Amino acid sequence: MMTSLVESLRAAGCVFAEEEAELLRGAARDDAHLVELLARRVGGEPLEHVVGWAEFCGLRVHVGAGAFVPRRRTEFLVQEAVALTRPGAVVLDLCCGVGALGAAVAAQSPGGVELHAADIDPAALAYARRNVAPYGGRVWEGDLYAALPAGLRGRVDVLVVNAPYVPTEEIALMPSEARRHEPLVSLDGGADGLDVHRRVAAGAPAWLARGGRLLIETSARQAPSTASALTSAGLSVRAVTCEERHATVVIATAAA
Ligand SMILES: C[S@@+](CC[C@H](N)C(=O)[O-])C[C@H]1O[C@@H](n2cnc3c(N)ncnc32)[C@H](O)[C@@H]1O
Repeated sequence: MMTSLVESLRAAGCVFAEEEAELLRGAARDDAHLVELLARRVGGEPLEHVVGWAEFCGLRVHVGAGAFVPRRRTEFLVQEAVALTRPGAVVLDLCCGVGALGAAVAAQSPGGVELHAADIDPAALAYARRNVAPYGGRVWEGDLYAALPAGLRGRVDVLVVNAPYVPTEEIALMPSEARRHEPLVSLDGGADGLDVHRRVAAGAPAWLARGGRLLIETSARQAPSTASALTSAGLSVRAVTCEERHATVVIATAAA
């Protein structure tokens, strides 16, 4: 069974066929279920959707059909956010998807945080609810800041954001696993990719605490435009990069 599993995965173009076979076996309830999972994977579904979890910052986060799979690149944003998070901080994961960033920041903050996560997509939020629950996190549904309770205004110490930033015309160039299995709302950032970034930036000052930080993932190419949107909103900015992970994050600070 194991050999044919590996062969089927390899024939379908899975580069890490042995590892994937192990993961599928681990996720299957029985042989019939394994056959079903294999068919989904061979049919092109992301491995994480098929097994029901993704590894992120050492956590197993719940994820599944119809949700964006957290990328390892985004672990860099979490690393930067944790360094800026004091015990008891109010942390908001905006455009949270399955809530991986917020959960990871909370998991790495020994003093605990007040965690909030928000997204427009109810399918993603169903997973986020489960992922932030161990940290007492609360989940809000709606369009950016409109989702949030008024009581959060001016109280957010650390705002982590991985919003869509792919320019519309470049969606067609993405791997088919993303194009076919992740919702367009999780990928499409508009003509230059920065529609959501501009709206996140414009709304941030009203929600950040004095001296609060906003960390937003972008690309090296788009970083100057992301930074300029945040500067226009009255925040001071710096960009940090991690070459190993091909990650760029703009960090903005509200006036103290
Ligand atoms: C690139 S995915 C990232 C998800 C998550 N932050 C992560 O890194 O795993 C972008 C997310 O932004 C959400 N989103 C897009 N437009 C939004 C909006 N106007 N308001 C709230 N969430 C939005 C999508 O539903 C999606 O979950």
